[in-house]
Amino acid sequence: MTVPAPDATAAPDATAAGLRLLDVTLVHGDGDTAVTALDHVTLWVAPGEFAAVVGPSGSGKSSLLAVAGGLQRPSSGTVAVAGAELTALPDKRRTEARRRHIGFVFQQSNLLSSLTVREQLLLPLHIDGRLDAAARARADELIEAVGLSHRAGSRPHQLSGGERQRAGLARALTTSPAVLLVDEPTSALDRARSAEAVRLIAEQTREHGTATVMVTHDLAIMDHADRVYEMVDGRLS
Ligand SMILES: Nc1ncnc2c1ncn2[C@@H]1O[C@H](COP(=O)(O)OP(=O)(O)O)[C@@H](O)[C@H]1O
Ligand SMILES: [Mg+2]
Repeated sequence: MTVPAPDATAAPDATAAGLRLLDVTLVHGDGDTAVTALDHVTLWVAPGEFAAVVGPSGSGKSSLLAVAGGLQRPSSGTVAVAGAELTALPDKRRTEARRRHIGFVFQQSNLLSSLTVREQLLLPLHIDGRLDAAARARADELIEAVGLSHRAGSRPHQLSGGERQRAGLARALTTSPAVLLVDEPTSALDRARSAEAVRLIAEQTREHGTATVMVTHDLAIMDHADRVYEMVDGRLS
C-alpha cells in the first residue's frame, strides 16, 4: 500500500486515458456559508488502476466522485475522462460522456423502481444503442457474478438492501466503463459479500482497463487497491 503525493506535473494532459483531475476546487454556497468541499485536488488514475480514497465524514469524498463523474461542475480546475475534457463539454454532451464512459456505484443503489434487475442493467445499453447479444450476455454474467441470478426478474422493492447494492454494482459494470466511481459500496453487505464485491471490482478494473476510484472505510478493501489516498478538509494526499 503506497500513498504517493499528488503531483500536478506528473498528471498527463487531458487527452490521456483514464481519469484526470487537475487543480480542482469545489465550493458549495457563497459568502459566510461557503464550504470548500474540494481544495485544489489533482489526481490521475490510469487505465487498470484501482485507487482507494479514505477520510473522515465531511472531508469531501463524495464531492470528489461527483466532480470526477461530471455530476457536478467544479468551481475551478478541469476533469478529463477517457481523453475527453468533461469540464469543457456542454451539458448534453457531458451527459452522453457520462453514460458512455462512467460507471457510478452510489451508497444508495438508485435503482429504478419499475424495472427488474436485468432491465436495470440493459437500460443504459439500450439508450446508447449498444444492446446486442454480447451486451445481454455480459449483463447476465454480471448478474451471476454478484449472486443475483435468482433475482434477475425481481424489482427493487422485492430485494434486500444488500441485493440492491449488488444490483447497483452489476449495473455500473455492464457498460464496461472507462472510469468506475464507487462510494462506500459495501455498507449494506456482510463481510463475505463485501469481499466478493470488491474482488469483482478489482477484477473488472484489471480485465477491462478501468480507472477505478473507490471511497471506503473498510481496511480490507484497501488491500485490493493499487494506491490509497487520504482526504482531509477537501485536500487529497
Ligand atoms: N450540496 C451541498 N451544499 C452545501 N454543502 C455541501 C453540499 N454537499 C456537500 N457539502 C459539504 O461539503 C463538504 C464535503 O462533503 P462530502 O463530499 O459529502 O464529504 P464526505 O463524502 O467525505 O462525507 C461537507 O462539509 C459537506 O457538508
Ligand atoms: Mg460521502
